[in-house]
Amino acid sequence: MKPPPVRWTTSPYEGGTGLERLVIFAEGRQNQPMANPIFANLPTTIFEEMSGLARELGAVNLGQGFPDDPGPEAIRARAADAVLNGYNQYPPMAGLPELRQAVASHYGATQGLVLDWASEITITSGATEALAAAFLGLIEPGDEVVVFQPVYDSYLPMIRAAGGVPKLVSLQPPHWRFTRAMLEAAFTERTRFVVLNNPMNPTGVVFPEADLALLAEFCVAHDIIAICDEVWEQVVFGNARHRPLIGFPGMRERTVKIGSAGKMFGLTGWKVGFLAAAPDLTHSLARAHQFLTFTTPPNLQAAVAWGLENAETWFREMPRDLARSRDRLSDGLERQGFAVLPAEGTYFLNIDLAASGVAMDDRAFCLHAVREAGVAAIPVSALYEEQPVTNIVRLCFAKRDATLDAGIERLAKARELARKAAPAEDLPARA
Ligand SMILES: Cc1ncc(COP(=O)(O)O)c(C=O)c1O
Repeated sequence: MKPPPVRWTTSPYEGGTGLERLVIFAEGRQNQPMANPIFANLPTTIFEEMSGLARELGAVNLGQGFPDDPGPEAIRARAADAVLNGYNQYPPMAGLPELRQAVASHYGATQGLVLDWASEITITSGATEALAAAFLGLIEPGDEVVVFQPVYDSYLPMIRAAGGVPKLVSLQPPHWRFTRAMLEAAFTERTRFVVLNNPMNPTGVVFPEADLALLAEFCVAHDIIAICDEVWEQVVFGNARHRPLIGFPGMRERTVKIGSAGKMFGLTGWKVGFLAAAPDLTHSLARAHQFLTFTTPPNLQAAVAWGLENAETWFREMPRDLARSRDRLSDGLERQGFAVLPAEGTYFLNIDLAASGVAMDDRAFCLHAVREAGVAAIPVSALYEEQPVTNIVRLCFAKRDATLDAGIERLAKARELARKAAPAEDLPARA
């Protein structure tokens, strides 16, 4: 169909009332895409794609990262009580004082941080909003932002929407660690920010002190701000210890620390997040938060505040139970011939296809596994923007034993079928 004629002869901005000029301008644009290409050109996320296939095909879903378990009952009961008997109108913009105090004392007790709840803590609608507030509130157009790949999927579009220019550092299996040379290649005189996800999704890495000290050294030397996505800080196993970057020398005034009650308490749908930063940074973060969501449901905030004050047992038992699930999945997969990478934190472990004798790349294997064997997983290459690692598949172990056992059996079937279809001659044949 022919586009409607544009109804101006000279400039669309000349003559008529303001509203008439707006109508003329909109008509003139009818045939042009109106959407911001940063978002319009994004594909469906790999999590949606794989979960959609899992639903359609009735597959076991080890792809998307949420627990089977409904979360601690006492905290859910608090939230229900707060809905029925509590305050349900707009809470203060920065969050309920009781929650901000609870967050500050939690980080004091567990990570040795001294934070002033009134000037340094903001409550957000999940870490997703906290990240958006950090990017939109702090980045100026043209600022370079160092980001590690594989990358959590919200970072790059939101950095670009803020006008930032991502500079990617590619981490490689099996250890996924960064080096001085990698940082030297990424940092320039235009670098203003680095984004660090620690513990890291999807790799399951808890960065050791030496790596964090190296990154802190670069942040101080380049006078930049670190945006630290630490949503997995409580989900750390065995002898691994989470060390917040804000606690390193020179980082206290230049770090935005982000947490999530969803991950702390296995209540991923709640979307209650925390921003912790020095007062000057908090001022800008809170201004951005003000126009993103303004507030977060007060009843959930009240329940999280109670949870943080009464969570000693939960914080001891939750990682222990998850480590047991990790071991169940890991041992089962190894018995079936898979090469499993170590996982010290998060809900995720990774398998190395090439080292497991599978000649397919990760995306082909995940599609094959969900269609032919009824198990959904995430190809890690989808979390690289450039030069992807293509032999790693992420699996979520925050699941019941029966789900994990079914997942192991189905992955074993997927591996056998893949090996029959394309024998991996040059690859090690395990089991
Ligand atoms: C690294 C990372 N950052 C942020 C989020 C989002 O957290 P929230 O659900 O609190 O928005 C997730 C959720 O999986 C995550 O893994």
